[in-house]
Amino acid sequence: MMKNFSLLLLLLLAIILFFPVSNLIGLQGKNELIPTGMNGSDSFRKVSQIMQNKCVDCHAPGMLRKPFYAVLPIAKQLMEKDMAQASARLSLSKELFSGEAAFTPLLLARLEHVVGNDSMPPALYLTMHWTDSLSVDEKKTILAWIAEERAKSAWSKEAATSFKGEPVQALPLTVELDMDKVNLGNKLFHERLLSGDDSLNCASCHDLARGGTDQAKVATGIRGQQGPINSPTVYNAMYNIAQFWDGRAKDLQEQAAGPVANPIEMGAQWDEVVEKLKHVADYQAAFAKLYPEQGLSKTTVTDAIAVFEQSLVTGNSRFDQYLRGNTAILSSDEIQGYELFKTNCASCHFGPALGGLSYEKMGVKRDYFKLRGGELTEADNGRFNVTKREQDRHFFKVPVLRNIDLTYPYFHDGSVISLADAVRIMGEVQLGKTFSQDETAKMVAFLGTLTGEYKGKLLTHLTTADLQ
Ligand code: HEC
Ligand code: HEC
Ligand code: HEC
Repeated sequence: MMKNFSLLLLLLLAIILFFPVSNLIGLQGKNELIPTGMNGSDSFRKVSQIMQNKCVDCHAPGMLRKPFYAVLPIAKQLMEKDMAQASARLSLSKELFSGEAAFTPLLLARLEHVVGNDSMPPALYLTMHWTDSLSVDEKKTILAWIAEERAKSAWSKEAATSFKGEPVQALPLTVELDMDKVNLGNKLFHERLLSGDDSLNCASCHDLARGGTDQAKVATGIRGQQGPINSPTVYNAMYNIAQFWDGRAKDLQEQAAGPVANPIEMGAQWDEVVEKLKHVADYQAAFAKLYPEQGLSKTTVTDAIAVFEQSLVTGNSRFDQYLRGNTAILSSDEIQGYELFKTNCASCHFGPALGGLSYEKMGVKRDYFKLRGGELTEADNGRFNVTKREQDRHFFKVPVLRNIDLTYPYFHDGSVISLADAVRIMGEVQLGKTFSQDETAKMVAFLGTLTGEYKGKLLTHLTTADLQ
């Protein structure tokens, strides 16, 4: 009896929330559509109209067609929560609809995910607004437009025509850089004088022959001190929107200053490091030549390291060759793995490095930390540590997946050793899905095709001599 009563209440609430009575009694007319600019393509005009008709109720705060029930206390609160959640993921504005502002690669990836998975508008909303579901044609139109947008971007220039619309792009084979600075940065990256007791260099934790990591659960710093977090790879780090798991350094140069002075990493003082380097004639000469105005300083040392790191782009993996048009290079399992990856994972792991471009919660659908067990650490807070905003707790920069076969153990806590386990856990905590063994194996096979080259050699074949 009680149970039925609660169900009834829920149903009533759903009706109050979602039934468009206002439409029926004419209180809530459809908005005037915002026209797209003259330069907008035909497909964009259609996409803009579809979204203005079917998505603004939740995704466009400020443009809302306010139904009369929006003023009722509970309804108002719940609608506001829905809108806040919806627009945190995709905030639609007049500028986006008119074409004055561009949909970023992140928004395109999220949009592709929901349209491909048929998950928007939400099912509950559709039970009442049944005319707002996307038709087959509308879905096709949106997906085709997303591919067109991607094909226009610089990232897609490496790919064969038929692959220009993919959520993952091929890495360039060469990068234009000042090679003298690259070489100097390489030397500094391998320079032990950067640590307090001359014992560690950057490569101690970012070994270029180990996928740019130490392949350890957490990093070990000066005097054997255990760090709080797993070492991410330095390969392709230039594709990250910011550096560190929590994004606390805005770029590679700012990042490089961190480990040197971190007491549990390299444990040095920058002015002492600069003094030590000044006593090496080769460095004196190189900095005088390459940085004639500034000479050798913390700024120029970190700049040279950052330039070197921009050279750490691992192109020509088998997957890159596939995107360039050599479709025979992948097995059918690997291709099926990529298809699974696209539908499930690419809303977060997209772009040339398959990640690095957004912050996402670890545990969208299920509490990862409960599943993992153990005490919560400060590092587990993730982006919250930087912003101090509650909504950023347990958010991390989505890691890049290039060379993922080599960069174990996985996750910020280094708690998972096998890639299959990492994929399975991602399914459970990020998507609320349990993949079959076959699906997992196929995705793992696909991820294995992402191992690329540095200095013309596969990362698995690099020797110490290649790294000098
Ligand atoms: C009833 C309100 C509602 C409507 C209408 C609605 N959405 Fe959403 N949308 C949400 C909510 C809530 C979320 C955040 C939670 C979630 O992802 O389920 C969301 C999330 C999203 C996301 C982000 C997915 C991600 O990666 O997290 C996209 C993209 C999106 N919606 C697109 C659309 C599109 C396109 C339409 C119109 C065809 C639409 N939505 C209509 C409520 C709505
Ligand atoms: C003692 C081990 C250790 C040393 C030495 C070290 N790092 Fe790291 N590095 C780490 C750890 C651990 C992280 C992640 C820390 C975090 O996110 O809080 C990291 C993060 C990074 C990142 C960010 C990558 C990303 O995906 O966000 C870059 C780039 C990097 N290090 C470069 C360097 C450079 C350059 C040096 C030398 C100046 C260096 N590291 C020295 C352990 C180390
Ligand atoms: C909602 C966004 C999101 C989705 C969807 C998602 N991931 Fe992730 N992925 C993340 C985040 C965030 C992390 C880092 C979490 C951490 O370290 O605590 C991560 C980490 C990983 C890692 C470990 C990387 C490393 O270097 O430690 C792998 C492997 C991975 N994801 C694969 C996948 C696969 C495969 C899928 C699809 C089945 C997927 N992810 C879906 C956000 C996502």
